Amino acid sequence: MAGQARNLKPELSFAEEVRSGLTKAGQKELPSKYLYDDVGSALFEAITHLPEYGLTRAEQRLLQRHRDEIRQAAGCPAVVTELGSGDGRKARTILESLRVCGRLTYYPIDVSAAALIRCNRELLGLGALTVVGLEGPFLEGLARAAAEREPGRPMLVLFLGSTIGNFDRPAAVRFLKSIRGLLAPGDALLLGTDLQKPAERLLAAYDDPAGVTAAFNLNLLARINRELGGDFDLRQFAHEARFCEAEQRIEMHLRSRRLQTVTVREARITVTLREGETIWTEACHKFSLRELPELAAKTNFHPEEIWVDEDWPFALNLWLAK
Ligand code: SAH
Ligand code: TRP
Repeated sequence: MAGQARNLKPELSFAEEVRSGLTKAGQKELPSKYLYDDVGSALFEAITHLPEYGLTRAEQRLLQRHRDEIRQAAGCPAVVTELGSGDGRKARTILESLRVCGRLTYYPIDVSAAALIRCNRELLGLGALTVVGLEGPFLEGLARAAAEREPGRPMLVLFLGSTIGNFDRPAAVRFLKSIRGLLAPGDALLLGTDLQKPAERLLAAYDDPAGVTAAFNLNLLARINRELGGDFDLRQFAHEARFCEAEQRIEMHLRSRRLQTVTVREARITVTLREGETIWTEACHKFSLRELPELAAKTNFHPEEIWVDEDWPFALNLWLAK
């Protein structure tokens, strides 16, 4: 059974966040959650099929290989909640294995309405399953799902695709603590984390030669033009992926090809960009196997299991709420 997605209110408007990000004194930035409008979600799905972007296939292999162990470690949950479900392909793997547990409710949470529609379609035909899409930010969605759950059987939270890596390390700790605060002892978190690997491999994954990732990044400016009355000339910006060794992260930027002035009507701003100046749009932190159990301990989880893919170093972590 699948329903219309329910809409949750965001904290700040798109216009307000664009205004504050582009008028910053130092490095200009835009929040990455706005990468995912209908066009952005379709481009992200294309990224997951790129030969250079091994992350999605690595995580799918781990989910396939270990789905029965995941079900057992999670204690046959009655509720599955997913933060940033995307198209629902990964959830399908898990939900199929959970069918032996009986009736199940699945709450995909996503800011992208297009992703939730695709997710619903992906899960059609799975019996004994109720899908309740929650359109909005991660924690608001999780709070809603936690408030609706029936007590007794545990909840499993999926946070896949190394989306946790899009937070910087201190923010990831705060975010995981917030998740933990909405769970009951014994609930499970299945967390996908991309592992550290050579810079060349990462740079190819985030700057593919066909230009799909470039289109994904540049679409953020096109979205500002469409939704907020902006006048960005996309041809005057270049996609740039940088590897930061000290932080072990890829940074995505949009580099201004020349000195230019841009107006965004609904954000009530006119900003000047120097030649070579960048707008920072995303960070993708890469983890070491050593830091993952420490991260669990710091955020009040017990690191129950860790599975690692060897072809594309990636870790799938199953943590239990203490
Ligand atoms: N889990 C999927 C998709 C990862 S991409 C996978 O592993 O392939 C990240 C997803 O999270 C996108 O679908 C995006 O729309 C959503 N998203 C990003 N920031 C969000 C936020 N702050 N709140 C809710 N959803 C968000
Ligand atoms: N969570 C994904 C990652 O860190 C998001 C992502 C993939 C992404 N490719 C991207 C974000 C390109 C921005 C640009 O890998």
